[in-house]
Amino acid sequence: MNKRRRIYEGKAKVLYEGPEPGTLIQHFKDDATALNGKKHSLIDGKGALNNLISEYVFVKLGEIGVPTHFIKRLNMREQLIREVEIIPLEVVIRNVAAGSLSTRLGLEEGSALPRSIIEYYYKNDKLNDPMVSEEHITAFGWATPQEIDEMMSLALRINDFLVGLFLGIGIRLVDFKVEFGRLWDNDQQVRIVLADEISPDCCRLWDIASGNKLDKDRFRRDLGGVLEAYQEVARRLGVLTETPRPRGAGPVLVTSNDGKPN
Ligand code: TMP
Repeated sequence: MNKRRRIYEGKAKVLYEGPEPGTLIQHFKDDATALNGKKHSLIDGKGALNNLISEYVFVKLGEIGVPTHFIKRLNMREQLIREVEIIPLEVVIRNVAAGSLSTRLGLEEGSALPRSIIEYYYKNDKLNDPMVSEEHITAFGWATPQEIDEMMSLALRINDFLVGLFLGIGIRLVDFKVEFGRLWDNDQQVRIVLADEISPDCCRLWDIASGNKLDKDRFRRDLGGVLEAYQEVARRLGVLTETPRPRGAGPVLVTSNDGKPN
């Protein structure tokens, strides 16, 4: 029986108490939501794919010196992470016009932006995560000016790296959302680290050859093929191997490259 203490449950993930103080277990659910939870579906296998994809991205970012909350993947659904104090902001980085930016400014989806643009949204479901400015963030004390500078510089580094990483597998990184947390070192100094996840749930990923969407817009816009799109991203990143199945056999066994079953 699972006796772990549940610390927090969000729309797509659950956080449980970790094995050591200062650690948590991040569990990826199959729930897909949009319109602030009004639209909801279960997509069997999505959680496992996001876990694998996010692990890959966080490990790669760690390798180029971006501090993250990630420690290790535990199984197909869960990762061990450092406990951080989440800064209540969604930081969105955009390379190409799409989604709410296109709606707000009347820009055609897919049109180029003069440069990468960073936006901040206040994490508050009751208010539908409104867009806020640096003035709001500092005036209401959600983050200090130094923390904003740090988040912005990390976000740009993450963007530069991920644009190249996805380009290498034939995918355009249109935009994405990240979250940051405060991590206390032993000497009580706070460090800003990348937290949450980076997966097709929180990115716009367009196949360069076909223009096909390989992300959660397939769910938001009822395009179908959500799981197949996420699988395609995982496969191109090299984090998914499918066991070939004999004709007439049961469901496909999906494993990560280290052979841990789903
Ligand atoms: P938007 O165009 O709807 O503002 O979304 C911009 C990017 O941020 C897109 O890649 C999806 C992601 N995003 C989230 O991950 N969570 C959210 O709650 C929102 C609004 C956007």
